[in-house]
Amino acid sequence: MHKQRILIQGAMDIEVEVLLSELNDCKKNEYAGFSFFEGTLNSVPVVICKTGMGIINATIATMEGIIKYSPCCVINQGTAGGHADWVHTGDLVLCEKAEYLNGFRMPLKGEGEGSNSLEWVFDKDMEARYADMKLIDYFSGVSYEHGKVYRGCIGSGDLYSRETDRIRWIHEKKGNLCEDMETYGVYETCYRMGVPCVGLRVISNHEIFREPFQEETAKWLQKYLILAIGKGILT
Ligand code: 5AD
Repeated sequence: MHKQRILIQGAMDIEVEVLLSELNDCKKNEYAGFSFFEGTLNSVPVVICKTGMGIINATIATMEGIIKYSPCCVINQGTAGGHADWVHTGDLVLCEKAEYLNGFRMPLKGEGEGSNSLEWVFDKDMEARYADMKLIDYFSGVSYEHGKVYRGCIGSGDLYSRETDRIRWIHEKKGNLCEDMETYGVYETCYRMGVPCVGLRVISNHEIFREPFQEETAKWLQKYLILAIGKGILT
């Protein structure tokens, strides 16, 4: 029987370019406007998808990938902004839990009364979703040389938070180590479809500490993933 592929995702070009450069026997397909690249990475059958940015893109691309390829698992990976005080650029977060950072209700204010996002409340408090813990354990055992490795919570929303007070507000409510724009959509889709998933995020920026977005971090993560896959993940 045909061996099930691992579906590997990245949102931006810089988050898939190393993976694609290492992909053998590559065959490209387009479904629902997303590019899927079938092939082998370190002799392991995979399909790599560039999802584009944001919760909606990530959700649709995951659904499409699951329907078309019936993958054995989904690995979402990419960059994230640091929220916890103890994470820094280059560190890796194995996303055990994903929290949804969209969906706010604002207090009523009249003309001239301004807007203060610290007064907003999470209106649509969506349930947290979780990674497959066997996959998290597996990645915990793979060495990574560019920073520390944490297991913990990621928050995802269609936002790029750069205000210290706002970042602290989100962190206090959700306990997330970092923020991205895709993981929750992927976890929610995998939860509904019954497919094991894991999110791997490298801290690319930390606005509280004025650590600017470092593109190189995306490469470090992809190299780590290729190494991990070569160690025989799920085979
Ligand atoms: N906030 C939100 N998303 C971020 N990303 C990297 N840093 C951040 C941040 N501070 C990721 C998102 C998105 C792109 C901007 O990079 O997942 O795909």
